[in-house]
Amino acid sequence: MATSKDYGLGEFAFPRGWFMIAAAAELTDKPKPLRYFGRDFVLYRGKQSGKATLLDAYCPHMGTHLGINSTSYVVRDGQHIDGDGIRCPYHGWRFGADGKCDDIPGLKGSIPKAACVRSWPVHESMGVIWVWHDPENGEPEWEAPTLAEWDDPAWVHWKLDDLGTLPVHGQEVIDNITDMAHFGPIHGIGAVEFFENEFSGPYVTQRMIGPHRTLVESGEKLYTDTTYHGPGFLLSKMLGRHPSIILIANTPVDDGVTHAWHALLVKSPHEVAEQEDVAVARAFQEASLAAFAQDFEVWANKRPALRILQVNSDGPFHLERIWYKQFFNPRAKRAEYCKRVDGIHRSKGQGWTVPQLRTG
Ligand code: FES
Ligand SMILES: [Fe+2]
Repeated sequence: MATSKDYGLGEFAFPRGWFMIAAAAELTDKPKPLRYFGRDFVLYRGKQSGKATLLDAYCPHMGTHLGINSTSYVVRDGQHIDGDGIRCPYHGWRFGADGKCDDIPGLKGSIPKAACVRSWPVHESMGVIWVWHDPENGEPEWEAPTLAEWDDPAWVHWKLDDLGTLPVHGQEVIDNITDMAHFGPIHGIGAVEFFENEFSGPYVTQRMIGPHRTLVESGEKLYTDTTYHGPGFLLSKMLGRHPSIILIANTPVDDGVTHAWHALLVKSPHEVAEQEDVAVARAFQEASLAAFAQDFEVWANKRPALRILQVNSDGPFHLERIWYKQFFNPRAKRAEYCKRVDGIHRSKGQGWTVPQLRTG
């Protein structure tokens, strides 16, 4: 296991960006303890608004974990989530969704200012709860994750594959976006015909054309247009057996430990997807997961590549590793990293011929 410091990424152990933290369907008004970015949180759905709230886990009064308790009468009496706030199981202080304490049972006088926990910016979309993590506590620097296809009834919604945690730094996962040479050995792509990367601020895109043993019929080609939206997740628009969009999310749990998810949105041939389309989409998601598992097996067992012995048949790892640093350093330095990498880097082939795959 290697840390952000071992990779020389920058000042922060954990990067800035939108990150997946939970599946929306599982989130209820029963608080869920979570650990990401080397800290503990409590996540819950407010009873009043139904909105997801993410707070730092420990009560400022005496340090109780706000989300882990089954025996306190606060919990047994159904007071744990109270409106859109949460009550500490120990002495019943209530914190609003903004993290400020707004009730201390029995208190005479005013609530101290220090009676608050940090409330984190969350966003719910595409069946996912996302958090904007920022070591500088700034506003989100780019848009929260969305996909127009999610709201199009022709597309079959994904189910999220939770792949659990890996003792691997996100760097090793992100390297994949520029990894042209793994497609043959890992995915059975005999010869990649076209491969380019485009770096643009917090986004890096890979466009690839080639045969694929898992995702297209023999003799046909797979077209993918894959974009990392910051360091936390990619969306890959894919023309294979079915038009589809892969989600791969990676979120740091501790420095050098990563939680990963996979999902696949599949377009049906009907204006409104029918029951039988769901079965087809699920089967295709299984195939996509099997392809991703081929990468995953390598990551789970490799030693950290603190330095890559890069050769000219690789993609531009050296640029991707500079791009990734922008998220581990103060945003005042962001432009420096972007200036060094922004633009298109073509590794193979002549032209990109599938403009309808552009992610925009
Ligand atoms: S420790 Fe939370 S209210 Fe006392
Ligand atoms: Fe791969």
